[in-house]
Amino acid sequence: SVYSDEQTASVDVAKRIASLIISKQEQGKQAVLGLATGATPVKVYKELIRLHKEEGLSFKNVVTFNLDEYYPMKPDADQSYVRFMNENLFSHIDIAPENINIPNGELAREDIEDFCLKYEQKISGFGGIDLQLLGIGRTGHIGFNEPGSAPNSGTRLVTLDDLTRRDASRDFGGVANVPTKAITMGIGTIFKAKEIILMAWNEKKASIVKKAVEGELSSDVPATFLQLSPNVEFILDQDAALSL
Ligand code: GLP
Repeated sequence: SVYSDEQTASVDVAKRIASLIISKQEQGKQAVLGLATGATPVKVYKELIRLHKEEGLSFKNVVTFNLDEYYPMKPDADQSYVRFMNENLFSHIDIAPENINIPNGELAREDIEDFCLKYEQKISGFGGIDLQLLGIGRTGHIGFNEPGSAPNSGTRLVTLDDLTRRDASRDFGGVANVPTKAITMGIGTIFKAKEIILMAWNEKKASIVKKAVEGELSSDVPATFLQLSPNVEFILDQDAALSL
């Protein structure tokens, strides 16, 4: 769907998340959310915070799994996705800390594989992700599944693309400070979600959105694999939809 602007689209996505949470509450169940970082979902999180503060939406039955984290990364570093999620969402709502899952950027190298396997198992243990939010990077990555990622890939350690590192360089005060690696859910992990919402705003994303939506399936543009899933919806503002 194409919306007039980012704010309207974000409010709508937040509303859908809220309905999912409430319907799970009514069934006495947990809602399992897959969450993304970056600038794209920030207004969705703002609206969720507003719904919590002004309309009493509770997150007590919510379990979250974040897509990715830089590696190595300390959780209290300025650029960590742990800090990002706390500042943009978690510290403002009533989610239980034990229900929050984010790939651990502090692991010893030899412990990563086991961690990734357990991350997958933990998601499955909750019955899978009900709703996965995605942004898209200019390389066509989702999470940090860079060009070359296989459609059945699982949670793993990956090497970041140069363009991704350049795009992140402002946050890190120079490209040299951007980690070369990250831990990310795989495309296969993302695919298992019952519902997937990919959001993109701004003209800067128009050409990659066109490739993702209309391009030939290829691991050169990992987001093209989303065309294979019937559970994916692209939510765009007019500018990101410009080339479609
Ligand atoms: C990072 C994140 C992705 C995100 C992408 C786009 O690389 N790992 O999950 O989708 O950036 O970022 P932004 O939303 O800031 O454009």
